[in-house]
Amino acid sequence: MPRWYWPIDVKDVPKIVVEPPGPKAQEIVKADESLVMQSFGRWYPLVIRRGYGPVVEDVDGNLYIDFNSGIAVMNVGHSHPRVVEAIKRQAELFTHYSMTDFYYELLIRHASMLRDIVPIGGDKRVFYTNSGTESIEGALKIARGHFRNQRPYVMAFLGAFHGRTYGSMALTASKPIQRFGFNPMLPNVIHVPYPYPYRCPFGRGLSEEECGEAVLGYIEDWVFGKMVDPSEVSAIFFEPIQGEGGYVVPPRNFFPGLRKLADRYGILLVDDEVQAGFGRTGRWFAIEHWGVEPDIIAMAKAIAAGLPLGAIVGRASVMDLPRGSHANTFGGNPVALAAGVEVINIIAEEDLLTNAQRVGEYIKRRFIEEMDKVELIGDVRGLGLMIGVELVKDKKTKEYAVKELERVLYESFRRGVAVIGAGKSTIRIAPPLNIPMELAEKAVDIIIDVIKRVDRERK
Ligand SMILES: Cc1ncc(COP(=O)(O)O)c(C=O)c1O
Repeated sequence: MPRWYWPIDVKDVPKIVVEPPGPKAQEIVKADESLVMQSFGRWYPLVIRRGYGPVVEDVDGNLYIDFNSGIAVMNVGHSHPRVVEAIKRQAELFTHYSMTDFYYELLIRHASMLRDIVPIGGDKRVFYTNSGTESIEGALKIARGHFRNQRPYVMAFLGAFHGRTYGSMALTASKPIQRFGFNPMLPNVIHVPYPYPYRCPFGRGLSEEECGEAVLGYIEDWVFGKMVDPSEVSAIFFEPIQGEGGYVVPPRNFFPGLRKLADRYGILLVDDEVQAGFGRTGRWFAIEHWGVEPDIIAMAKAIAAGLPLGAIVGRASVMDLPRGSHANTFGGNPVALAAGVEVINIIAEEDLLTNAQRVGEYIKRRFIEEMDKVELIGDVRGLGLMIGVELVKDKKTKEYAVKELERVLYESFRRGVAVIGAGKSTIRIAPPLNIPMELAEKAVDIIIDVIKRVDRERK
């Protein structure tokens, strides 16, 4: 079970001592606006000073329940003592010696641990990166390079988020602003609908399974039948649960069907577990819920408890780029790897997968119980501690409650819960996997109370 290491009492959290944003937070936000390019959209002015497991403290002394984990990164919580100790120990030995030119044992240690947890059978190979987008870029090169450019097309899903550099941005299609003004994109990327059960792109009357079948049929009949011969497609990139797109969980039949389709045409399946991986859904990797083996898995975010590290793991037979064709300077940084070894140990030894399932079920049930009573709550979905609560203005029309979402997030922040959004109007719940039930309960009480208030006041 998760253990509590931090010098604060769960009973004292959340604690708002100064109305946020307090004076110190305001000062920092102002300086930030005058120094930093504001190309990102922050939800509210939370200025962190330090973290304690699933709790963050701001610069004015307020304590918040962390219901986002620094965007699904701090799966083992903030400043876990084992991670801190491992970082210190490695920093005293050496902090860099490029793995693409030299060797170190820590790399082998971590790579063998990764090999043992990824849901791909047989012989595997690992490549290290620095971020999610770089893992996707690498996977794109591996997939195309594997076919020596005989299969120039790749496929991705509408609603997907795979990153913001040129290759990954070309695969991304979750919000137009992420692509607006940056054309031309990488060519030969085909986007197809994703089976979003609550808003099936093929019509309202379809069941979840029918929606999954409709997407597979569309790829086969319309894309392969009318536009691109499947022998020219190297890979299909997918998120097992769309993250940025709104925490969308596809139906049970979808990935088994996609695997069959890919196998029929010799296409590689690239599973983007950057957000859903590393225990987030109560399994090491989210695709395990569908019992499907991808060919390549891209990961980053939670892999090293906040240190910049990513990895690509795939079948040895496809991870075959020739010498000199792909490398980087910082990938597999030793300090990040030392933290990464502890992340895997902590998740296993503290049984955080079980905690993610247990607390996740509780959180989901609480929101489902409110669904019939509160007009604003349109859909509740998720696996483990990757839970989406979609807000709609009206249950019948399912009109996105965009402004209402902003208010819910802001008010939750003011009351001590740091939770953010995804998609157009979905509350994105992703606390550290070691969150105690008591804190999850308090956070859910606050969010539900805020939703009810926003629901009443809009009428
Ligand atoms: C599924 C997924 N893929 C890729 C990325 C890109 O990762 P990074 O921000 O580390 O480049 C993200 C980031 O949110 C993501 O959620």
